[in-house]
Amino acid sequence: MHSQRAFQHFLMKNSGFPNDLAKHTKSDAAMTLASATGLQPKGSKMNTAVAQSPTIDDTAFVRFWNEVLAPKFIKFKHVLVDGLSHHSEAVFPTLPVHEGDHVLDVGCGFGDTALKLAARVGPTGSVIGIDCCETFLDYARAEVRARSLNNVTFVRGDAEIALPTNQFDFVFARFGTMFFANPVAGLRNMRRALNPGGRMVHIVWRERADNPWLSMAKDVVLRFLPPPGDEAQTCGPGPFSMSDETVVRAMMKSAGYEEIEFRRVDAPVLVGRDVKDAIAFQLAIGPAGEVFREAGAEADRKRDDIEAALAEAINRQKIAADGIVMDSSSWVISAINPA
Ligand SMILES: C[S@@+](CC[C@H](N)C(=O)[O-])C[C@H]1O[C@@H](n2cnc3c(N)ncnc32)[C@H](O)[C@@H]1O
Repeated sequence: MHSQRAFQHFLMKNSGFPNDLAKHTKSDAAMTLASATGLQPKGSKMNTAVAQSPTIDDTAFVRFWNEVLAPKFIKFKHVLVDGLSHHSEAVFPTLPVHEGDHVLDVGCGFGDTALKLAARVGPTGSVIGIDCCETFLDYARAEVRARSLNNVTFVRGDAEIALPTNQFDFVFARFGTMFFANPVAGLRNMRRALNPGGRMVHIVWRERADNPWLSMAKDVVLRFLPPPGDEAQTCGPGPFSMSDETVVRAMMKSAGYEEIEFRRVDAPVLVGRDVKDAIAFQLAIGPAGEVFREAGAEADRKRDDIEAALAEAINRQKIAADGIVMDSSSWVISAINPA
């Protein structure tokens, strides 16, 4: 019997995706995506294997998301979801998403952007959120049940491996594509998921210097600990891997996109409810968290000094009503799948 990964490759090589679905229903699309990725949405009646947790066929990056990062992201959901929303709020009103559209949200995490998109497409449209981390999707699905929505579905899958082709009017990703180990493959899958002429929008971080909310804490931690070595466990290339406009434009062209446009969005992000929360957040997630995690016992021995230095740096930041706020900057990149 084929392994799940081999099955996915088999499907891809043999054009096994049911590409001929024209305008589809929500469940058609979910089934198609599940078929493409070798996975299925919870509660569906398909017979293919369900992957509820990391499998041996997951890439090392996907396993890392599920095993190491998921508990940390859940602990700091309040920072991540509220913090990141400033960047999507700035562009949401301008997104070319209409009632009745079929939309894919790649790397959808806890599902908040997919749920917003579902409100935009209405009952005649559909949204599928795909993420490689089952635990995040459980939160998203709980929200779907709580709101009794029937135009949005969440499916586990790896967007770098496979997505269905020519199924969607619009493909979206907020801070998900920067983690692709093979970005051109992932971006190409997203383009192929679009109908001809369809548009994709992805949001990625700009350079480190314009994102002190991620870079400042790393600089502090590096005063005490060595940088992560070549063998460091990671979730992929990292938050700044798509910060260079020239490089990303070339990636998008190689992936087959046209009409590629970059728009800069500067926005504040919440980094914690208070200084203690912000320190815990920085030592758990992002570039500072990676340095701290990789240093192991040395990090534990130096924890008090590191926390004191971080407290000093964080105390210099702005305090807003809901907590500590720092500057951040993203690219909103928009492109079309040529007709
Ligand atoms: C920084 S989070 C952003 C989540 C969400 N889009 C948001 O803005 O709140 C990145 C997400 O991408 C997902 N991810 C990373 N690589 C992926 C891949 N190859 N396929 C699908 N999801 C992926 C992770 O599991 C995670 O949920």
